Amino acid sequence: MSGPLGRLSTGVAVTGWGVALPDTAVTNAELEARLDTSDRWITERTGIRERRIGGTTGQLAAAAARQALTAADATPASVDLLVVATSTPDQQLPATASTVQHTLGLRCGAFDVNAACSGFVYALVAGTGMSMAGARRVLVVGADVMSRVTDQDDRSTAVLFGDGAGAVVLDAVEGPGQLLGWDLGSDGSLRHLLQADIGGYVQMEGKEVFRRAVRVMVESSEMALQRAGLTIDDVDLLVPHQANTRIITAACERLGIPMERAAMVLHRTGNTSAASIPLALGDAVDAGRVAKGDIVLLVGFGAGMTWASAVLRWGQ
Ligand code: ACO
Repeated sequence: MSGPLGRLSTGVAVTGWGVALPDTAVTNAELEARLDTSDRWITERTGIRERRIGGTTGQLAAAAARQALTAADATPASVDLLVVATSTPDQQLPATASTVQHTLGLRCGAFDVNAACSGFVYALVAGTGMSMAGARRVLVVGADVMSRVTDQDDRSTAVLFGDGAGAVVLDAVEGPGQLLGWDLGSDGSLRHLLQADIGGYVQMEGKEVFRRAVRVMVESSEMALQRAGLTIDDVDLLVPHQANTRIITAACERLGIPMERAAMVLHRTGNTSAASIPLALGDAVDAGRVAKGDIVLLVGFGAGMTWASAVLRWGQ
């Protein structure tokens, strides 16, 4: 943003969305051939069948963002703010948002958010707040190249992660807008559960992350729904962080929502961290699973530990 603030808004609408995945697919069979693992173990324990690997965070983010701008019929010049959620920036500095801004020819403020796999929902809520402060059009991207921070010889993590990006355009609107309720949380005392040193690889206490993930997904979803004045029965589409089918199944059971209402892409993407929620959202919308007026619940969890939920009323 530059110059005077735009007219202050009271809400935002999602007017465009886009996704990007690398061309190269790595199947479970390929991992089975070089690691002490099996297609059966990976499928049964995680639900993942293949993941896409390659590219840089900036390239994937720009590709998804370009698609989102086209879908919203928005010019680069009309974007007031760019927020990129990532925990795998291409460089220590500058922010990957600077690369995306330059690639797309945007002329606006641009910064990164790091809340690991919860990052996209954090960025969505932050972008909405900035919209209410006067940014009329905000581009929000979630992008990660997890393959770069994963030890490809470590079977406990190599089978889980993939690369990708997803983006949405948020436009300021009169009235309450689409974001009806949200919840952001963090418990830094648990940061040892999932971490990567600078220049190092992801280390994870998988079982403990699993246990806590289910709990925070349920609590955070319920908090966001309560703030929106809704219950789980009102939710038409659940878009959970795509880490593990068993985590999503357990969270759905405890929340009391049928699995059929959950958006699922992890079988072909793996865990793409900040990209996973916008990838699953874009896939569900493109498949015609979301109608105008539907209630969409986004819920993520990740390193930190962090968690984040957002309740949207789709279509404007
Ligand atoms: N292939 C075969 N065997 C394996 C593999 C593999 N790829 N990985 C682990 N094993 C073995 C283990 O060594 C262990 O063997 P042992 O019993 O002889 O010791 C056995 O399988 C069971 O391992 P567990 O870790 O107990 O398996 P679990 O059922 O917990 O599944 C998993 C592991 C898939 C990692 C699960 O715990 C999980 O999904 N956790 C959450 C992970 C997650 O969501 N991380 C991302 C968070 S988001 C972010 O911020 C990046």
